[in-house]
Amino acid sequence: MKIDVALIPEEFQSKTQHANNVVVIDVLRASSSIITALGHGACGIIPAASKEEALEIGRRQKEKNVLYCGEKDGLKIQGFNLGNSPKEYKKETVHGKTLIFVSTNGSRMMVKTVQERRSLFIAGFLNVSAAATRISKSDRNCLLACSGREGQYSLEDTVCAGMLAFEIQKASRNAPVLSDEARSAIVLYRHFADDLPGMARNSLHGRYLSSLGLGEDIPTCVSLNRFKTVPIFKRGALCLD
Ligand code: MLT
Repeated sequence: MKIDVALIPEEFQSKTQHANNVVVIDVLRASSSIITALGHGACGIIPAASKEEALEIGRRQKEKNVLYCGEKDGLKIQGFNLGNSPKEYKKETVHGKTLIFVSTNGSRMMVKTVQERRSLFIAGFLNVSAAATRISKSDRNCLLACSGREGQYSLEDTVCAGMLAFEIQKASRNAPVLSDEARSAIVLYRHFADDLPGMARNSLHGRYLSSLGLGEDIPTCVSLNRFKTVPIFKRGALCLD
């Protein structure tokens, strides 16, 4: 098994050609909200690349039992039911519902992965050990895709990719082959391992969320292994494996 990391979205296309499994990482906050929603009983999450696409998907679903979810510039999209704060995805709100989800970076990477016909998994700090076990069990070439920030590099996504690669190494019977990007991400993870909240708070997107008054989401999004579940794309939606 080879483990590679796409540090910025631009690298995604070329690196996907060599991967069977793609793990999309968007710590602040798309991955964290999706892991939380499915962990709290949502029955499926359909990623969309735009608000218009989401509304079209909703119409096709006859809007039965669906919630429109997501953000634009970090804030809830006008007319949507939920924004992108994991705190909004409570059991009583999402249980048994289908969510149609749009975000600036994360949902677009998810849609691209599906279009590339690769197996799509969602990971963050909230389920990092469960995701590592799942990927090591599949023993197929894997790309850890950092969602970044509007095409740019994201520190928190890279640190999370480093932790995931490190955990996959530990969980794998046969030592995986790591790309230079994966090895660099592991070094970064080990550097910040003792203060993940500080790392995320001081990242570019962390500071932006704090400027919007959403700073409270940061410790939530970097809390380790709150969920033992791994979202996977099957039959047109993200659901639990
Ligand atoms: C994204 O996908 O771009 C992020 O999750 C944005 C955010 O929630 O702030």
